Amino acid sequence: MAVIAYKCPKINTTVVDINKEKINLWNSKDLNLLPVYEPGLRNIISKVRNINLFFSTNIKEAIEEADMIFISVNTPTKSKGFGAGYASDLKWVESSARTVAEHAKGHTIVIEKSTIPVRTAELIQKILEESNFSYSGDNKRSFAVLSNPEFLAEGSAIRDLENPDRVLIGGNDNKAMKKLSKVYENWIPKEKILLTNLWSSELSKLSANAFLAQRISSINSIASLCEKTGANIMEVSRAVGLDKRIGEDFLKSGPGFGGSCFQKDILNLVYICRFYNLNEVADYWEEVVKLNNWQRRRISTLVVQTLYGTVTAKKVSILGFSFKANTNDTRESASLYIVRDLLENGAIVSIHDPKVSMDQIQMALGAEPKQQNDDTDYGWFYEDDIYESVRYSDAIIILTEWDEYRNLDWIKCFNLMRKPSWVFDTRDVANPFEVRNAGINYWGLGQGNENFKN
Ligand code: UDX
Repeated sequence: MAVIAYKCPKINTTVVDINKEKINLWNSKDLNLLPVYEPGLRNIISKVRNINLFFSTNIKEAIEEADMIFISVNTPTKSKGFGAGYASDLKWVESSARTVAEHAKGHTIVIEKSTIPVRTAELIQKILEESNFSYSGDNKRSFAVLSNPEFLAEGSAIRDLENPDRVLIGGNDNKAMKKLSKVYENWIPKEKILLTNLWSSELSKLSANAFLAQRISSINSIASLCEKTGANIMEVSRAVGLDKRIGEDFLKSGPGFGGSCFQKDILNLVYICRFYNLNEVADYWEEVVKLNNWQRRRISTLVVQTLYGTVTAKKVSILGFSFKANTNDTRESASLYIVRDLLENGAIVSIHDPKVSMDQIQMALGAEPKQQNDDTDYGWFYEDDIYESVRYSDAIIILTEWDEYRNLDWIKCFNLMRKPSWVFDTRDVANPFEVRNAGINYWGLGQGNENFKN
């Protein structure tokens, strides 16, 4: 909405939420307090907030006044009931549709922005249409439902929105589709705006994410083979990616994909396939998630094995907790899983991240940090200075590719660490020669080296 407000000065946009605290943060004078860290966002908010972008908890008024409503609520994977572990929980989409049905006036175009299972638009349409039977207001109301999936990636969201590869608008109401297209045409060339039927639009989002995630699982699978054979994943990835048909993006090996979308969307796809009895197709896509889970576990297992089979009472420094650089989002972050494994194995885990706060880590891990005077020899704590975090550590594990970790002073690290000291670099950001020259043992993901050949 911030980008729409910025690019379309004539359109008034209002973001509403039932969470008052969040809305207050979006309205805070100090732009450092905005609840989402996203490069470029603060700048845009400072230009349009309270001019044509408003944040409010007055949901009723915003719906009454709106010509277009974007439903952008979360759709997490169901944890219980039918489809648990695979299907998306649509309760927030449904309750949003009901709220729109209650307050809308005149003609309203309702747009689903949340990533949702195929055929959700039907549910929204039904709720909206049937609401007219019980509606007692004076005005005649009507609705059009469109699907307009979001393809932005966190960390580059503003750039992706300003210059998207494509915008997808799905629906069967041509007038409504043209109206939404006009909004985007304020800054996006028309040929990049694709108009499709509802189901194609919904399925394209799931498919795009599944294809992207599949590339990561593919390259991660090859990384493990590189380690065994003495090949180097960066060389392999470059050689493979230079084939124009394959392309070089999204071929970076790492500790496994995280974020709010990939796993959830693939599991959704798997669920739909099983529903339609396409079991081979379901199994095919499920392997992408299985390989990702294996990749995270492989790293924590390798760390424990390398540290002589045990991390009990050993200090391990985690560099990076967000699921990738340039975001403070920790959802499904590989760090979350690897830290949990290390804690279960009795390690003392010191966590550093330039943008993720201690409170966020606590919430994500569901465990209290270790207190200063706590003399137990396991647990986690937060450290905002990289070198303090490394002090007395047996091992450093780099899990997020923040720039801060690219040029560390490895001699300083060596002097601070317990010996023998180790660096496990799952993002290939450290310089192996510098690490080794400093006297630290080095393991780099996908880099076959003598120590690990067997
Ligand atoms: C993704 C899609 O890219 C976006 O189009 C969709 O709208 C939402 O989901 P996002 O989750 O924000 O976006 O981040 P993305 O850049 O796709 O990264 C996802 C995960 O894959 C991260 O954990 C990242 O570190 C990992 N990744 C990405 C790799 O391990 N290697 C790569 O080459 C690329």
